[in-house]
Amino acid sequence: MKVIKNPLEMQKTAFKHFKNGDEIGLIPTMGALHYGHVSLFKKAVKGNDITIASIFVNPTQFGPNEDYLKYPKPIQKDLEICRKSCIDYVFMPLANSMFPMSHKTYVEVKTLQDTLCGSFRKNHFRGVATVVLKLFNISCADRAYFGIKDFQQLRIIERMTKDLNFKTKIISCPIVRESSGLAISSRNSYLNDTERKLSANIYKILKVAAQDFKNKDFKSIKKNTFDRLKEIPVSKVDYIEILNFDDLSPADENAKKVIFAVALWIGGTRLIDNIFMIKPGRS
Ligand code: PAF
Repeated sequence: MKVIKNPLEMQKTAFKHFKNGDEIGLIPTMGALHYGHVSLFKKAVKGNDITIASIFVNPTQFGPNEDYLKYPKPIQKDLEICRKSCIDYVFMPLANSMFPMSHKTYVEVKTLQDTLCGSFRKNHFRGVATVVLKLFNISCADRAYFGIKDFQQLRIIERMTKDLNFKTKIISCPIVRESSGLAISSRNSYLNDTERKLSANIYKILKVAAQDFKNKDFKSIKKNTFDRLKEIPVSKVDYIEILNFDDLSPADENAKKVIFAVALWIGGTRLIDNIFMIKPGRS
């Protein structure tokens, strides 16, 4: 495994592999690696000749009052996980080599970037789309791997890839959960023991909503979910939304396949989770 910090060196190395005919898999991460990332690594290693894991806490996707400065950076542990996962290259650039003062170009994925988390985290998805586009260019990736826990991020990246004619195929991977049901996330490390136990109820509540989808209207599903979340208790609910699975447009009662997404706060930690809901007997 080789660690590369310089974007140009990474690009030249990736291009050499590309010219050799190697298929390249990219796994973009912000580090603080966990089982969710490992599941992406496994899939990438299996499906490509060469794998590049990027570890970059991207400043452009954090708002001024968010956790950019305190985002966990266990570098040695992360490198060990990459090594054990048989990753070929770890791309670990410095912030000013990706976004120097002179940087002026951003990519926006209209509409998709404005809903769900986008309405609470201004410019977040502009930062995500821009860094992912840069990583695609630097890595010459044939495939890039993303978890569906960040479902909105996934749909935005898919749209950007299509709209801008990237050759990179987007591979979506299932949510990995702790045995309690809590969706694994780097930010779970902010939770204390009590908060972690409480957070395990989120998935239980999502599963009840998915059951209700078969015979209850959206208004009551959302209200029941809100009431149940309040009982956990969560400190704040940012949103409870039911959206069309394919394009995140608002779903109507006749929708067959929807995504039920929540964002909430447990103490000072913001958590997101989602579940697909399908009407039985229809595809
Ligand atoms: O999901 C993440 O970890 C980040 O948003 C990503 C895709 C690595 C971009 O910084």
